[in-house]
Order: sequence, then C-alpha cells, then structure tokens
Amino acid sequence: MSHLIETQQFTRGSLTELFKLASSLEGKRNDSLKGKIMAALFYQPSTRTRLSFESAMLRLGGGVITMENGGESSSQSKGETLEDSIKVVSQYADVIVMRHNEVGAAARAAVVSKVPIVNAGDGNLGQHPTQALLDLYTIQRELGREDDIHIVFVGNLKYYRSARSLSYLLSKYKNIRVTFVSSPELRMDNDVKEHLKENNVHFEETEDMNAAVQNADVLYQTRIAKDFIKDDKEYEKQKGRYIITRAVADSMKKGAIIIHPLPRVDEIEPEVDDSPHAVYFRQVGYGLIVRMAILKTLLGEDKKLIRAHRRK
Ligand code: NCD
Repeated sequence: MSHLIETQQFTRGSLTELFKLASSLEGKRNDSLKGKIMAALFYQPSTRTRLSFESAMLRLGGGVITMENGGESSSQSKGETLEDSIKVVSQYADVIVMRHNEVGAAARAAVVSKVPIVNAGDGNLGQHPTQALLDLYTIQRELGREDDIHIVFVGNLKYYRSARSLSYLLSKYKNIRVTFVSSPELRMDNDVKEHLKENNVHFEETEDMNAAVQNADVLYQTRIAKDFIKDDKEYEKQKGRYIITRAVADSMKKGAIIIHPLPRVDEIEPEVDDSPHAVYFRQVGYGLIVRMAILKTLLGEDKKLIRAHRRK
C-alpha cells in the first residue's frame, strides 16, 4: 500500500505518468472509483484542498465523508491521539486525505492506517505534496516544457510548505534555475537548499523582487500567513513587503507566468488578474484533475507510480 507523504516519493518518469493521467481526466466524469470512500480529515482551515479532493472523488463516482475543524469537532478535543483517530477512520474509508498543524503528522498516521494516507499539509515546515504536484503540472502545461525553467519564489519561503514541496520536485529536471526572494527573516530553510545543492540545481537568494521577476519564466507568489507567523509585530513587519502590482506583472517576459497556491490576501493586486501572465485561477482547475489522478493512482490504477516514503 502506498501513502503520499512527501514529494521525494516521485521520479521524473512517475511524474510524467501521473500528469498524463491527469490530462486524460480533464472535463471527465466516470464511475471508476464507484463504491470507494474518501475521508477528508482537516485539522486546519482549507477551501481548495478539501473541496477539490471531494469534487475529484465525486467526479470519479466515489463517496466522501468529511471532517473540518478537526481540532474542535473531532475526538481530538476529547484527548484522543491522532493514531487512535486514524485507526478508527481507516475502517470507515478507503483513503484518508488529511491536513494537520504538526510536522510529521501524516507520516505518523501512515504508520497505523489500514488505508492510503494523503498528506494535505503538515505544519508550517512540513510538506504539501498534492499542491506542489498541481503547481508543477501548471508550470509544465502553461510553459509547454519540463526543463530549462527559471522560477522565482517570492515572500514567505520559511513557512510555506507547498513551496518547500515544489522545490524537491524541481530538482528532478534539467537546467532549472531558482531565485528565492524574501526578507532575511523568511528565507527558505536549509534542508531545501541542501537538497538543491546535492542535485546541482542553481539557486540564489535576494531581497530584490523587481530585478528577479524580469528574468523569470515562473513567478511563484506566496501568502504572508498570519496563521503561520505567530508574532503580531513580525507579521506587521513582513506584510506588504512584496506585492505584485500590474506594473510588476507587465515587466515580465512574454510567456512568463504568475502562479500562487491561493488563498491570496493582498500580495497580488486584483488588477493583475486579467494580465496574460496570471494563471493562478487556471491553476485551481488543474488541481482538480491532478487530484483525480492521485486518487485513481492510490486506489488502484498504478500504485507503482508513488514510491514508499522515508520512515523517520
Ligand atoms: C496553502 C496551505 O495551506 O499550505 N493553501 C493551499 O493548500 N492552497 C497555503 C496557504 O494557506 O496560504
């Protein structure tokens, strides 16, 4: 049985297969997962991740049981451990999609689960592999290539799990150049940078967004998350530092794209939405088909595509 815990579980070949499957599912509804049940267990807020997984499962003919606000509405509030909750829910469902505030929670769940676990985000410094898969799908589909890409990550690189997950995926491709734009306080963590070094991915760090975006093929904007940066003073300091205005968007190369996992607050101005570079709402649609492909893969189609995750 495979679980999807971190993006290191994929190879370049398995990504190609997964994305081929995703593309083949565009606009489709079928009964291929009829009789299967997905449980969505969310201990942190979510709109896109939970609803797109639910919609994906319904489009494939499966059923959904769901729990939002897990911290308050689940038995965790009565003192139940995550392990006990998973032992229970894995008897109700054929796959569990879970988001949790602790790094490593999905890996812990995988140890005791009878069914595949999908990590839909674990902590600030963990991963969000399904978001990174849909981000990568968006990049490859919009640019029409897999190699020779300059990506500029902007903003909250320290507490942004999907940017962490995507960095691991990018290291599988050729001639990838990464620029991390952030304040010194919100720099990308060393584990990701070490991984890029080990895989010969050229990266640089800067505080100058305007210079970096002019050479970008992909501008990846992030949210300065109030829920991740606990300190109010620090939040106020960081907020508003890197805003994509229409002028910033207009300074980008022809064919370059702006992506964002969303939700956004004020880090991309609404005037950017109708720029030819803005693809963040199309990205949402790609998320649906990528998640359909992930569910089909974990529930039978081709389990080999997802390698075993590392055990801690
Ligand atoms: C992200 C998350 O929760 O990690 N959202 C998402 O899944 N699209 C980013 C965020 O909350 O800002």
